[in-house]
Parts: sequence; structure tokens; C-alpha cells
Amino acid sequence: MIKRPKVAVVGSINMDLVISSPRIPLAGETILGKEFFTIPGGKGANQAVAASRLGAEVAIIGCVGDDIFGKELLDQLNKEKICRNYVSVFPDVSTGVASITVSEQGENCIVVSPGANYKLTPELVRKGEDFIKEADILLVQLEVPLDAVDEAVRIANEHQVKVILNPAPAKELPQSLLEKIDILTPNETEGKLLTTQWVDSNIDVEEIIRSLQKLGVKNVVITQGGEGVSYNDHHEIKHLPAYQVNVVDTTAAGDSFNAALGISLAEGASLTEAIQFAQKVAALTVTQFGAQTSLPYREQVDQFKGEK
Ligand code: RIB
Repeated sequence: MIKRPKVAVVGSINMDLVISSPRIPLAGETILGKEFFTIPGGKGANQAVAASRLGAEVAIIGCVGDDIFGKELLDQLNKEKICRNYVSVFPDVSTGVASITVSEQGENCIVVSPGANYKLTPELVRKGEDFIKEADILLVQLEVPLDAVDEAVRIANEHQVKVILNPAPAKELPQSLLEKIDILTPNETEGKLLTTQWVDSNIDVEEIIRSLQKLGVKNVVITQGGEGVSYNDHHEIKHLPAYQVNVVDTTAAGDSFNAALGISLAEGASLTEAIQFAQKVAALTVTQFGAQTSLPYREQVDQFKGEK
């Protein structure tokens, strides 16, 4: 029998304020959208919920404000059977929110106001040290302060816990952090920014992977949406095409991909097998609207017979 993976997530907890709209507006333009929804989100919380629905024991380390959204999001973590002992509640700051527009084509545009997420400190991360050191995988992203991410990664390294860093939203990262990462999962734009500091750079995927490897990252897995995934398997660069599905909304696809990748590796899969599993999970995610409303359960993934 496969042991139940234990996953520690250090990251953001947001309420998503979502408007479905015929298209994404241009800068300076006002357009009429359609419906409005409040949906639990945040890259950290999305990863935690995805991991829990896929069968892992999960704890999240993060912060919310002492407000209505904070309370709703804590209830949501409870419902999803996620340990929230390491979530701090701050009275003087609002819970993180994301303003999201989703077009009829399933594209999105997201602006995050981090609020309480930026209250996360290395000291607060250390409160979750007991959980991190017992975990199979640490999942981190960049919607919380970098010194908190750094501390989580330091603890994980000290206890030989595998680290998956999703560098979103993209920012420059010091080599001292990159060399502690087992798997880095940028999309192509984030990969370009990390290597050349320039999103319009002509650098190709293989060059991005090689540059990040030179900076000390063990494995680089570049998610390319409908184009698939490129990654290094030891020294070889490989590519896996994407599943062909009806895209409703891509929000949280990256988050569910990361959670699934970690769980599959914790269950003993090879990197290629784990990416294939994560691709299924992400494919199911994009077929549904919203962040945590779209994250699939293990049975759905096991039954998924998508085509590439
Ligand atoms: O990755 C999707 C998430 O990004 C959304 O849920 C939103 O909260 C932002 O953090």
C-alpha cells in the first residue's frame, strides 16, 4: 500500500474576487463583465487544497487578516481537512485578495493585494518547523515575503525534505536560494525573467533550463500551458505534450500542477511519471471555473482518460 504523503505548504491565502467577462480589458478601458464570484484562492492555499484532495496530509503556514474573508478562508481550510495550526491571524491588516478577470476564452488577468500574506516572517515559519521536518515535500511560491520562503527552504534542506518552488509571481531570486531547490517550476515567462531579467528575451526553453541548472537548481520543469511541459531528466532535456481539453479557466492550474507533482514524487514516481500525473491534474483544473472550485479529487484524476 502507498504511504499517505505528508505535504507542508508555505504560502498565500487569498479571497479571489472574480468577474467573468467577454474579454480581458485593455489598459485604460472599461468594459461590462458578466457575473461576479468570491472564490477561495491564493497560490499557497490552492496548492494545499489540491494536495489534500489528491490524498495527502497537509498543513499550511501563512497569514490572514481578522476579517470576514479571513474567517471564510479558515473555514474553507477546515472543510478541506488542512491543518491550520500554523496560520496566524492579524487584526490590523486585511486578508489577501486577488482581483481576477476571466475571459470567455478562459484567459485570465490577476492583480493580487497581498495584505496579511506579507506579515509572514521567518519566526512564524519556524512555528511550523515540526511539520515541515516530518513532511515528504515542501511546496513554496512567491506571494509571501522572500525571507519567509528562504527560512522554510532552509528548514526543509536541513531535514532532507524535497522542495518544489513555483516562482510565481516572478521575481529575481538569489543563487543562495536557487541552489537549495530540488524542483523549480516556472512558466516560460517566469523562466525568462529568472535567467535574463527580461520577459521579451529570445532565450529558448532549453537555454532557460540549462541556465537555471548552472545556478544550482536540480530539476527545472517549465510549464508551457497548451504546449506541454519541458524539463531536465538528469542531463537530458525532455518534453511532454499537454492534454487536449476544453479550457474554461486556467486559474490555479499551476497550483494544482505543483501539488500533484509533489504528491506523485512522494508516492515514489519517477520525475517523468510525476509530471504526467501533474499534467492530468492541471488539465482537469482548467476545465472548471475558479481557483479552489476547480481542483480535482483523486478519483477524478484516476478516471481521467484525456488525449494528448
Ligand atoms: O494561481 C492562482 C492564484 O493566484 C489565485 O487563486 C489568486 O489568489 C492568485 O494568488
